[in-house]
Amino acid sequence: SVPPREVWSTRKVFILSAIGSAVGLGNIWRFPYVAYENGGGAFIIPYLVALLTAGIPLLFLDYAVGHRFRGSAPLAFRRLTPRAEGLGWWQVAICFVIAIYYAVIIAWAAMYMIFSFTRRWGEDPAGFFLGEFLQVSDQVTIGFNYVPGVLIPLVLVWAFTLFVLAAGVMKGVARANVIFLPLLLVMFLVLVVQALFLPGAAGGLDALFTPNWAALLDTGVWAAAYGQIFFSLSVAFGIMVTYASYLKRRTDLTGSGLVVAFSNCGFEVLAGIGVFAALGFMAFSAGTGVGDVAAGGIGLAFIAFPTIISEAPAGSLLGVLFFGSLVFAGFTSLISIIEVIIAAVQDKLGLARVKATWAVGIPLALLSILLFPTTTGLNLLDVTDAFVNTFGIMAVAFVAVLLLTYGFRVLPMLGSHVNETSTVKLGRLWRIMVGVVAPVVLGYILISELIARIQTGYGEMPAWFVGVFGWGMAAALVVVALVLSFIPWGSRSAANHPVLDAPGTT
Ligand code: PHE
Ligand code: NA
Repeated sequence: SVPPREVWSTRKVFILSAIGSAVGLGNIWRFPYVAYENGGGAFIIPYLVALLTAGIPLLFLDYAVGHRFRGSAPLAFRRLTPRAEGLGWWQVAICFVIAIYYAVIIAWAAMYMIFSFTRRWGEDPAGFFLGEFLQVSDQVTIGFNYVPGVLIPLVLVWAFTLFVLAAGVMKGVARANVIFLPLLLVMFLVLVVQALFLPGAAGGLDALFTPNWAALLDTGVWAAAYGQIFFSLSVAFGIMVTYASYLKRRTDLTGSGLVVAFSNCGFEVLAGIGVFAALGFMAFSAGTGVGDVAAGGIGLAFIAFPTIISEAPAGSLLGVLFFGSLVFAGFTSLISIIEVIIAAVQDKLGLARVKATWAVGIPLALLSILLFPTTTGLNLLDVTDAFVNTFGIMAVAFVAVLLLTYGFRVLPMLGSHVNETSTVKLGRLWRIMVGVVAPVVLGYILISELIARIQTGYGEMPAWFVGVFGWGMAAALVVVALVLSFIPWGSRSAANHPVLDAPGTT
């Protein structure tokens, strides 16, 4: 028989783990730049609107599905209606792709934590990152020339991650979050304070917060706000469905969701302050404007920050705090992504925790280690990241809200389930947000991205590469999801057991 489903021992560990998942690389290296590029201080308006009209409503939706049906994403959706199982597998497939490259970035950040002392990048951080460190080849292809300086930390990241996951929900996932999340917060607060004392910091904050009200007339700015919120709250990934499935029956779902959502956004604003204070210092020492040094993503972390670390007083400390924050923020998110896959396999095959961890973790780690720590891995990472975010996450969210609202018509039922135990009640307003606002916005973003990608391709990359690892990968996720949802559930699977404590049974 199936081992009893694990539960979070307290609401606090659930909230910490959910925040650990939400607070990721996106908070630190994505939000500040997106805000800066899309209206600066004025961005707060589309950002809050996106949070309230789509982010939080979809977060509640995920919680409702996971908590009501007590299963991994495929099982929970299947219990909702067998026709929905594919949605869950689609989310699992997305998590699979994200996990294999997300781990790579954590490995880089871990190495850069060490380099913060040795200043290995010397006078030329960009040249060092692409040349000496990643040894990026000028061929855009899949290659197998391995770079030991990335391969070794990547193997260690995988070993540690799988070790934590094998320990289970309470002893592994919860424990890691209870340790790493507070550590992350303390490190990041110290980083922000240090950054604020750097000369030029005020100029950076000016650049970030000076409102450009005209930006509010630009639909692209609104799309960016919704895009940031969807990514940042990790909604529609299956993560929140999975985490909520381990909650005890009587849990204030909406109250918890609000804590998670506002903590995540608070961390983003904090990151904006820390990152732009540091960029202000960088511009100040170079004698240029903040606009010349502002960056996001990989460029911010691995090129701009090394420059700042080299020049700032107590730069090594700043480096350890910054890269350490990336490692911890990334690690707690990576755990949550892989938990989605492990839980799904565990439910479908009726496996014990440790076996499911190896069944998922070994292929995952091998693929990640095979494909990414190579001289050609950077382009692959770039393309998969860009496509899985839009044509994976946004697409699955779009299809999910449409199906749940108009196909299966389950919003009223999910809303009353949440209301049974929650403080903030879900009614008509929530159903409008999920069923109307979210699909309209997601549809708009998807279509405009589709047009942009068709017109301009993706960067300088050859069409075949984008075709295979961008479009092809995104399409393969759907195919894989459909195939998996047609595989029958075995006699040992959790599907053959009733929802453990469905309403009325406890
Ligand atoms: N929400 C995380 C962030 O803001 C990103 C993330 C992606 C988390 C995928 C989990 C899964 O960075
Ligand atoms: Na986030």
